Amino acid sequence: MRIDVFTLFPQWFEWFRAQRHVANALALGHTLECVDYRATTPLKAGQVDDTPFGGGAGMVLRVDVVEAALRARYGVDPVESRARRRVIALTPSGRMLDDALAGELAREDELVLLCGRYEGFDERIVEHFCTDTLSIGRYVLAGGELAAMVVADTVIRKLAGALGHEESALEESFSEALEGDPEYPHYTRPAEWRGWAVPEVLLSGHHANIRRWRREQSRTRGAAGRPLP
Ligand code: 6GU
Repeated sequence: MRIDVFTLFPQWFEWFRAQRHVANALALGHTLECVDYRATTPLKAGQVDDTPFGGGAGMVLRVDVVEAALRARYGVDPVESRARRRVIALTPSGRMLDDALAGELAREDELVLLCGRYEGFDERIVEHFCTDTLSIGRYVLAGGELAAMVVADTVIRKLAGALGHEESALEESFSEALEGDPEYPHYTRPAEWRGWAVPEVLLSGHHANIRRWRREQSRTRGAAGRPLP
């Protein structure tokens, strides 16, 4: 997997790259690289944004700036390069990220994540250079960088070998193995603390019963968190 993040704050990602599961994935040959919009901006003094036509608050990332950055990175017109790789604009109004979408993205060879700042993107960036828009929730962040880390995190942990145990990403919250339900509760030693006992079934060694109990717990949690139809 090759992940390219286009951003005004490439140094933010140094911390992210050092996290264990990310470092593991990079050691296995996956890449996570940042491209700084300012490095290739055709405008003076590193300018990348401008005031919105029609007025209003905030600044908008310019289409010529993003075109220059994509062209410099991939060597072709960005209108063409989106046919070869998934180019995702991170925006609060985008398609909502969930586990199924993360799984879909993890099966790509290449992901391009475009971070917006200020009021976001000139719409022509989304329309002509991108294949997808993506949001991590119904709230507004100051920029797409934290969202890009969230997307990269959930995708990278699905890559084989990124987590310590191969099976850890399989039977987890919202996975197919749990039919979209949240994960069951976990317990570890001590078996009793201040009178709070671990459920008996987990100490029984009876694997079929344990599996059934966990599945029930997941279902109950899922039903509790789901809005009624
Ligand atoms: Cl992807 N970007 C920004 N700026 N805010 C968000 C978001 C993305 N997702 C939720 N809020």
